[in-house]
Amino acid sequence: MALATATTSRDSLIVVANRLPVHRVRGGSVGEWETSPGGLVTALYPLLRERGGWWVGWSGSAGGDARVFEHEGISLRPVPLSRGELEHFYEGFSNETLWPLYHDALRTAQFHRDWWRTYVEINSRFAEAVCSLAAPGSAVWVHDYHLQLVPGMLRSSRPDLRIGFFLHIPFPPIELFGRLPWRREILEGLLGADVVGFQTRLMAQNFLRAARAYTRARGAGSVLHFGGRSLRVLPFPISIDVDEFGRIAAEPGTLARAAGLRRRIGENRKIILGVDRLDYTKGIDVRLRAFEEVLRRGDLTTRGACMVQVAVPSRGGVDEYAAMRRLVEQTVGHINGEYGEPGRVAVHYLHRNLSRDDLIVYYRAADVMMVTPLRDGMNLVAKEYVASRPDETGVLVLSEFAGAASELRQAVGVNPFDVDGMAGALVRACSMPEREQRHRMRAMRRRVRAYDLYAWAESFLGVLAEDPPG
Ligand code: ADP
Ligand code: F6P
Repeated sequence: MALATATTSRDSLIVVANRLPVHRVRGGSVGEWETSPGGLVTALYPLLRERGGWWVGWSGSAGGDARVFEHEGISLRPVPLSRGELEHFYEGFSNETLWPLYHDALRTAQFHRDWWRTYVEINSRFAEAVCSLAAPGSAVWVHDYHLQLVPGMLRSSRPDLRIGFFLHIPFPPIELFGRLPWRREILEGLLGADVVGFQTRLMAQNFLRAARAYTRARGAGSVLHFGGRSLRVLPFPISIDVDEFGRIAAEPGTLARAAGLRRRIGENRKIILGVDRLDYTKGIDVRLRAFEEVLRRGDLTTRGACMVQVAVPSRGGVDEYAAMRRLVEQTVGHINGEYGEPGRVAVHYLHRNLSRDDLIVYYRAADVMMVTPLRDGMNLVAKEYVASRPDETGVLVLSEFAGAASELRQAVGVNPFDVDGMAGALVRACSMPEREQRHRMRAMRRRVRAYDLYAWAESFLGVLAEDPPG
């Protein structure tokens, strides 16, 4: 780590996201860093490492200072947040108001005026941090639901900047979004950008509809006119560094470790894998119930199959997350109690952050990958599994409510609210002939290779560099 000078050149890209891509390991010696959780970092970290640039974000713990430092070729500018601000801004407004509202109201969204006030304050702190370092005319790329006011704030204080915004999570239909007491302010914040990007066409349409209904924005198609300017609203489905996953997946060391894992689990048992942040949107509990149903009916036995669920700890300070963790752990215990035998566990459960290499060992070992969110902006795990299967075998079971479903059409599609349907899909996936597996996997691999993380970033930044629409 080295301190960097706090200025950018006109050509350097400034990424603004709630979290910095790395955080210091607690208790570790100086210089020990861990990659931050979530799909946003998975996608943007390799991109900035490759092209260099600036990243403005929170350090991952309360307090700290705003000193700029360098890490792996990226200049990082921390935005310090106090414990109280984190409760209102991150746990509160971001994760108990916006997160459930934007994910189909799977939990009741909480509306509190003091959380909103802190959200405005923190967004303005992020905007000020950007203004203090951005050279005239720089491109600033703001990310995700924590920072929806930042584009508008930058537009007022720095109209010289090119401002992009990308939402990693779903943008909900107007029937849900309309409940938000601060809907106009949020929309006007986003309308400050030159380009507003969403994961899917439907999410972009939801935004266009809400903007026309609740603000003075007007326009047809993907162009809106607002405040005397024009902006573009488009879908840009996010992706991963496909070559990197493919390269690690093909390494002899990875294959050897995947074979070792299979031996330990049982050579002739199908491995059904789940990999998620421990979030109630991911459908981990329903997936476990579907597996239990299959065992109960006797369609699969623990002699022939086992489930491995890897869950990365997430947002433990929010009650709904702590409750979901308890539910998942109780369900795992229940299934193992009912169906496990000494030396033959029905569900292996790992509650931890794994390294990229370790994760790919699991992807390579898994016969079936279950990605069954109740709602998800994209879901990069689905793409990671596909990218990690160079031998073209393996079956992806994919929720129709994940953004990835509109691209990975050859997956076995499921409605995650339908336990019986999921159980049926699981049995089908476990018995799918290799020929059919290859046919499906080949098509999905073609898609992820054709539009990887770099293509995603290039298409967004390409549109951002264009002249504003007429
Ligand atoms: P989200 O952004 O909501 O967490 P995504 O599926 O888009 O969902 O991205 C999750 C990212 O987190 C993926 O890159 C995945 O590899 C990573 N991940 C998930 N579980 C783990 C884990 N246990 N250890 C390390 N990384 C994980
Ligand atoms: O992809 C959705 C997302 O909320 C990202 O914004 C975030 O980086 C990730 O999930 C992990 O969440 P958190 O930063 O709350 O741990």
